[in-house]
Amino acid sequence: MTQPNEDQINKIEKILRDEKYPAKSHNLKVKQQLLSKNPKLTVESTAIFITGENSEPIKYSDQSKTFRQSRYFFYLSGCNIPSSSLLFNLHDEKLTLFLPDVDEENIMWSGPPLSVEEAYSKYDVDEVCYASDILNRIKELSGFKIFTTDLDNVSCDSVKSMLIAGDSDFFYALDESRMIKDSYEVALLRKACEITDKCHLAVMSALPIEKNEIHFQAEFTYHAIRQGSKYQGYDPICCSGPNCSTLHYITNDDTLENKNSVLIDAGAEWENYTADVTRCFPINGKWSKEHREIYDTVLDMQTRVMAQIKPGILWDDLHKLAHKVLIERFLQLNIFKSNYSVDEIFERKASVAFFPHGLGHLLGMDTHDVGGNPNYEDPDPMLKYLRLRRTLQAGMVVTNEPGCYFNPYLIKEFLEMHEDRLEVVNMTIMNKYLYVGGVRIEDDILVTEAGHENLTKITSDPDEIEKIVSDSISKGLSHFHVIV
Ligand code: GLY
Ligand code: MN
Ligand code: MN
Repeated sequence: MTQPNEDQINKIEKILRDEKYPAKSHNLKVKQQLLSKNPKLTVESTAIFITGENSEPIKYSDQSKTFRQSRYFFYLSGCNIPSSSLLFNLHDEKLTLFLPDVDEENIMWSGPPLSVEEAYSKYDVDEVCYASDILNRIKELSGFKIFTTDLDNVSCDSVKSMLIAGDSDFFYALDESRMIKDSYEVALLRKACEITDKCHLAVMSALPIEKNEIHFQAEFTYHAIRQGSKYQGYDPICCSGPNCSTLHYITNDDTLENKNSVLIDAGAEWENYTADVTRCFPINGKWSKEHREIYDTVLDMQTRVMAQIKPGILWDDLHKLAHKVLIERFLQLNIFKSNYSVDEIFERKASVAFFPHGLGHLLGMDTHDVGGNPNYEDPDPMLKYLRLRRTLQAGMVVTNEPGCYFNPYLIKEFLEMHEDRLEVVNMTIMNKYLYVGGVRIEDDILVTEAGHENLTKITSDPDEIEKIVSDSISKGLSHFHVIV
């Protein structure tokens, strides 16, 4: 694993220790975006009011669902406390955080809540009040346009009646702001990636004690929590053999017996910001011929894309480049018939049967982060699931995650149902790869002014991976060697 250098780690730790989550500057960014989208807005009489999530009970139970804060609310407040809300006045630029009213009866169960003073020193806000102050504060803004995302957690009807929910310009402003990460958000993502790197190394290094897919999930999750990351950004995808052909396989409960390949797609979260990383490896520590051929294909797709990542590049073009690399490789492997050219196979969309998803997506608080402008109605099957349809800009964080799968459903629907695509495939050869299931390699990339920086440090070199896995098997190295 390429280690992030010490200076860099210290820098991340210093930012996260010494600085507050920059809520105020996020509100100012949203203000700027909103005014540029709608110059007719009167700044003197515009405000934002947003509620966080409530702690939600499980139906017919006295327990609560796992609490996950609203991403928009967190972006504008940095506050993870359930039932909080915020008000930002665009005119005087005052940001007010409202904590939930103190519930005395809950103190013996949950401990004392954060005081107003503690909240003021913890969060980047101008003022801290309680929820009971909301109505008066909103009434003071009579005549204002007060934008909100939705009314779901607004309990007071008088407050509700003064809010404008779901305005498309407001969502545009929120999403454009969230799309470009500032240095604090990049530090959070670096931290999530650093933790995730170690988790993936742990999974690769624990083959002697892994007999079932669920053991990969156990290793990953244990190491994430052990490093202080309580949640993952999404349910880990831990598959083996033909299961690797299901893109979002989360059942994770099959035996590893008689399998060759593993795919694990999992990302730890830090303060609501998540990594999203996929690694593949051979179960017995030695790539089979077909598995290695597909791995090299995907690595080539990823490497050729990586070299092009910089501001000004249209992501669609990189997605198409990845398809062309797959086609070139499949021609070399004789999976595609050599009497067809790369362009001809590309035009017939035959590669979509093997690489059906998008090359990557924006990453941040949401795994598939906002601002990507996907078009799920696109009639072109090659572009339909591409979640980023924009030109790259410095400050975006994107995943570079090409894949190649042998999925019986896709083979039927995307190849066998289309004469012109089926024609270019040598099915006898293709069938030899079915047992591999699939390979995806996924790294998290910060787009910089100069090009890009790969935040993912866990190796994707197939020889290094083989060594890590086989050493763990032959020397009995276990996960305890990864984190001490
Ligand atoms: N982990 C889901 C994805 O890679 O998009
Ligand atoms: Mn992803
Ligand atoms: Mn992923």
